[in-house]
Amino acid sequence: MNSAKIYRMNLGYSKRELVDACIDTVRANRLTSCYLRPIAFTAYGPMGLNPLKNKISVAIPLWEWGPYLGEEALSKGVRCMVSSWARIDSRSLPPQAKCSANYANSALAKMEAISAGYDEAIMLNGIGMVAEGPGENIFRVKDGILSTPPASSGILRGITRDTVIQFSRDLKITFYRNDFTREELFTSDELFFSGTAVGVNPIREVDGRKIGDGGYPVAKKLQRMYDQAIHGRLKRYTKWLTKV
Ligand SMILES: Cc1ncc(COP(=O)(O)O)c(C=O)c1O
Repeated sequence: MNSAKIYRMNLGYSKRELVDACIDTVRANRLTSCYLRPIAFTAYGPMGLNPLKNKISVAIPLWEWGPYLGEEALSKGVRCMVSSWARIDSRSLPPQAKCSANYANSALAKMEAISAGYDEAIMLNGIGMVAEGPGENIFRVKDGILSTPPASSGILRGITRDTVIQFSRDLKITFYRNDFTREELFTSDELFFSGTAVGVNPIREVDGRKIGDGGYPVAKKLQRMYDQAIHGRLKRYTKWLTKV
C-alpha cells in the first residue's frame, strides 16, 4: 500500500480485500508452503510516460519456493562480495517502494556477484555506507550489539527486518539502527541477511575475509526463533500469523 502511495497508484482495493484475496489464492492452490507476490501494475491504456490515466491491475502470483540461497546456506552461511553497483537512491528511485524497476539495480549486483563466484552481493549506498543485499536486509553483530542500516540509508524496510528487531527487543539484545562502512563488515563478529525469501541467513565471508569465528550464535538464535515463529510454534508471535 505504501509503494502504491509513493507511485500515485490508486489500487482500487482496500487492504482487507487484498489480504482476503491473498488468503483465497493460497487456499485455492492447496499449497502448504509458498511465496506470495502481490503485484500492482499499469496494464492497459495510452503508451507513454504518464501512467496516471492507465487502469491499475492487481495480480497475486504464488509459487512453491525453497530457501532462497539454498538449504546449505542457512546452516553454513553465504559468501558475499561488496558490489561495484551502488544501491539506488531515494532522489532517483525510492528504495522504500517495492517497485519492479528497483530490481534492475538488484539484478546487476546479483549477476556481478554470481559471475565472480560468490553467492550474493552487498550493496553500498551513494555515500559508501552499507545499504542491503539485492533482495535482503543486512544485520551486523559487534561486541554483543546488533545493528542494521536505518531506513534512510536507501533500503527496503523489510517485514523480516522488523521481525528481527522485535526479537532483539524481546531477547533484550542491545540494538541500534545505524550506518556502517565497508570495513566494518569485515570486522563484524557476525553478519546476516533477513528477508521473506531468505529467512535469517548468516554471511560467512565478505570480499575474501572470513566473518567472525564462523559460529554465528546470535544469527542462529534469531534464525531458529524466526523459523519457529512463522510455523506457529511460539505462542507469543501467533498474532502475526493468518490462518488459511
Ligand atoms: C531490496 C530488498 N530488500 C529487503 C527485502 C526483505 O524484505 P522482506 O523482509 O519484507 O521480505 C527485500 C525482499 O524482497 C528486497 O527486495
